[in-house]
Amino acid sequence: MSYKRTLVTCALPYANGPVHIGHLAGAYIPGDIYVRYLRMRGEDVLFICGSDEHGVPITIKARQQGVTPQDIVDKYHKVMKDAFTGLGINYDIYSRTSSQVHEKNAAEFFRKLYDQEDFITQESEQLYDEEAKMFLTDRLIEGTCPKCGNPHAYGDQCEKCGSTLSPEELLDPKSKLSGSTPVKKKTKHWYLPLDKYEPWLRDWILEQHKEWKTNVYGQCKSWLDGGLQPRAVTRDLDWGVPVPVDGAEGKVLYVWFDAPIGYISNTKELLPESWEKWWKDPETRLVHFIGKDNIVFHCIVFPSMLKAYGDYILPDNVPSNEFLNLEGDKISTSRNWAVWVNEYEAEFPGCEDVMRYVLTANAPETKDNDFTWKDFQSRNNSELLAVFGNFVNRAVVLTHKYFDGAVPQNLKPQPIDQETLEALKPCREAPTSARP
Ligand code: MF3
Ligand code: ZN
Repeated sequence: MSYKRTLVTCALPYANGPVHIGHLAGAYIPGDIYVRYLRMRGEDVLFICGSDEHGVPITIKARQQGVTPQDIVDKYHKVMKDAFTGLGINYDIYSRTSSQVHEKNAAEFFRKLYDQEDFITQESEQLYDEEAKMFLTDRLIEGTCPKCGNPHAYGDQCEKCGSTLSPEELLDPKSKLSGSTPVKKKTKHWYLPLDKYEPWLRDWILEQHKEWKTNVYGQCKSWLDGGLQPRAVTRDLDWGVPVPVDGAEGKVLYVWFDAPIGYISNTKELLPESWEKWWKDPETRLVHFIGKDNIVFHCIVFPSMLKAYGDYILPDNVPSNEFLNLEGDKISTSRNWAVWVNEYEAEFPGCEDVMRYVLTANAPETKDNDFTWKDFQSRNNSELLAVFGNFVNRAVVLTHKYFDGAVPQNLKPQPIDQETLEALKPCREAPTSARP
């Protein structure tokens, strides 16, 4: 298959805190390197990103600080946008999921699937906080993990053992809003029946995309082998895109339903006339750069949504790195254990490339890696300064000394030059995407 153009996206970061070096190493620097490469080759490329401004953590943060969710996302949208620019990452657009274009687009997407009867509805008993008068989903609820005993597991996930959870599975659940013990209450939600897409996903990923990175392919395989369940795509919350159908008052789209549609919305916002060729023409190659905690959403959920909608292309590749730790400990926004990109830029002005270099040299491509300031220092001093700096310095000094400061024509290639050029040839001819 040959392609006419490449659409590259980087995961839309949550606007509930600044971007840290783990994000950079996982998705943003690799995506930027790839885009720079394609741009240098003169290819037709579009680079899309933006802030993911919905979801429970944003509402929790707003509550804690006594401000509105909109205040929180306004603040961090700007912080993140500036941090990316400061690092030399130039998206064609960096927009946000609270935009008008997105609200309309995400609602339209849901509506089409609804009209086509792609969803199922289910009434169920869910945990409800009687003091705060709210249903508790995802991160609004905390309790003990039934798998590993971690007392601070969330209603959607245990960060200690990595299990995906649902709120009812938590032992001794407590509301994050009021601290009270929740009661059960009936509510109705719309579900995407992922089980229906399973045979198709198995063929599309496991047979047709064997070239995906081993970690990505492996995670997909284990999800598929475990069997897929219908997934709720609506929530009882007041922050998000309102569910655009009758009988859904007080409900919004689940953040993982609306956010990936944000890639499309942002393309639409940038190119209102010509966005469709980037999303619907099979000669466009779509590549999502993401962190490993996003794999299931980009490889299984979003492709099923696109497939259900019809006429959208599917990702050709979904490169994802493993995690970067900091000084031997897991990076954590809530524990404030991170190197924040905006702070780095303020403290090391003009040194964006040093950070880019360290995170690339030490990229967690196949396993989790550790970032330490000692390593940062020695890579700067011995690799960039001593090795690379010295190389550049010598080349420039000797060019001035012997060739009047101009690059001489290489009239007589030495055998070693010939050998080097020969050895490079197969690299140029090797395919860029497929891995052996
Ligand atoms: N906000 C998510 C995260 O930071 C990523 C969303 S990616 C998108 O993990 F596809 F949903 F946009
Ligand atoms: Zn656990």
